[in-house]
Amino acid sequence: TNPDRVKIVEVGPRDGLQNEPYLVPTDAKIELIERLSDTGLSAVEASAFVSPKWVPQMADASEVITGIKKRPGVRYPVLTPNLKGLERAIEAGVDEIAVFGAASESFSQKNINCSIKESLERFSPVIATALKENIRVRGYVSCVLGCPYEGPIAAEKVAEVSRELHAMGCSEISLGDTIGIGTPLLTKRMIETVAKSVPIEQLAGHYHDTYGQALANIFASWELGIRVFDTSVSGLGGCPYAKGASGNVATEDVIYMFNGMGVETGVDLTKLVETAWYISGVLGKAPGSKLARVMEEQ
Ligand code: HMG
Ligand code: MG
Repeated sequence: TNPDRVKIVEVGPRDGLQNEPYLVPTDAKIELIERLSDTGLSAVEASAFVSPKWVPQMADASEVITGIKKRPGVRYPVLTPNLKGLERAIEAGVDEIAVFGAASESFSQKNINCSIKESLERFSPVIATALKENIRVRGYVSCVLGCPYEGPIAAEKVAEVSRELHAMGCSEISLGDTIGIGTPLLTKRMIETVAKSVPIEQLAGHYHDTYGQALANIFASWELGIRVFDTSVSGLGGCPYAKGASGNVATEDVIYMFNGMGVETGVDLTKLVETAWYISGVLGKAPGSKLARVMEEQ
């Protein structure tokens, strides 16, 4: 991996908006995604083909995916928990999907209503079918640094689930600190363990900022060689399972940090901050990043 370049996967339209109590109109989601892809981001996670009963915020996944003007060179991954989700996603014409598992049994049950083992059995045909259709597959592992129900999670368990997803054909394994509980040295230890099972070039850091640790965890991960990070414009989101939880780390704060380090992201910070203000206006709340506030004042 190039030490001077990172890939940012923008997850605001999915991970952010799935946790916003306000149901954002489809047109506004489309505008958000198009604005994000105009900033130079190469991946914008656009929606989730999950059960609308479980997550009403993502019920319009098909309309969103078919509605966006796709920019060449940009990928628009979507979540697919099962074959039904994959079928809907294929019909909408997606080029990348993500399956999502967990390193915690309780979280797996609450999030996707099955055990870890059952989830992997369920993902196997989803991944195989997607690959046959030339659709790239990401694999998420949640609760890599702790679980809202079980507390600490063993890094070996994270490695085990990551290894299985990788073996099934996921080209990127995104390590989710779902409740943002991790700190930099714990994050490093977890990654060192997982990297024994999956090549570090294929790992991504997905850190929520609940305890304000996400930037530090990204830096720690970068030091170990991680070059893919999932972030959310304006720090959108939260977590229905964690009281007082913030969303993912804000994309613009991460871009600012990498700019300062001389690490290329390809993202135009001014356009990104404008987009943070745009979606904040839609949601009727202040942007959740430090940078949006600073750049507004200038
Ligand atoms: P279930 O109830 O066990 O599933 O849910 P089921 O197969 O028994 O189906 C129940 C009903 O849902 C049926 O409808 C199905 O047709 C329908 P009914 O017959 O009752 O009318 N259904 C679907 N509809 C549309 N699309 C589908 C679909 N599947 C079933 N794909 C299931 C199991 C997995 C579907 C459910 O638990 C679910 O949708 N869970 C998703 C939860 C979710 O989206 N969580 C947030 C994303 S994960 C995350 O945020 C973490 C991450 O960011 C990383 C991190 O931070 O850690 C990725
Ligand atoms: Mg997440």
